[in-house]
Amino acid sequence: MPLYQPGLEVPVLEQFSLKGKTALVTGGSRGIGRQIVQGLAEAGADVAFTYRTATEASETAASIAERTGVRARAYYADVTERIALGETMDRIAIEFANGHLNIVIANAGVCQNVPSLEYDEEAWSHMNSVNYDGAM
Ligand SMILES: NC(=O)c1ccc[n+]([C@@H]2O[C@H](COP(=O)([O-])OP(=O)(O)OC[C@H]3O[C@@H](n4cnc5c(N)ncnc54)[C@H](OP(=O)(O)O)[C@@H]3O)[C@@H](O)[C@H]2O)c1
Repeated sequence: MPLYQPGLEVPVLEQFSLKGKTALVTGGSRGIGRQIVQGLAEAGADVAFTYRTATEASETAASIAERTGVRARAYYADVTERIALGETMDRIAIEFANGHLNIVIANAGVCQNVPSLEYDEEAWSHMNSVNYDGAM
């Protein structure tokens, strides 16, 4: 159905509703990712997110689910471990998203606030494996 039909207007906020959609946010345990999880949940989506070191990730998911009324669940994943990450995404799609994820946000990332000439090779390589390879 078109969103706008004269005489049959869909309420504006309803047009942004994600009710019935499923989403995955990598690195959703804290920072920007956590706010994205919260925003998707407030818009009505069921949200899975991954964490790597956050020990309270399950509690975070439970608290978001309780406040918004959607399903939210935390899954461990290191985005630099390609095969394991793929397996986790498959698992999330099957057991959390009924076989179909509508939204994936590749948020997990790292950053070192140092001048470019001070990056050593190991730090540069790690940053790229998280921020670029991890997103891909
Ligand atoms: N904050 C800013 O001003 C800013 C500006 C521009 C761009 N960004 C980018 O936006 C993204 C989020 O930034 P943020 O400030 O929210 O960062 P943050 O607070 O440091 O959070 C980073 C998130 O990424 C996860 N993560 C890190 N390494 C990972 C890995 N190897 N595998 C899986 N997950 C990993 C962390 O999980 P755990 O906590 O579980 O370890 C955490 O959830 C990053 O890509 C960042 O570079 C941020």
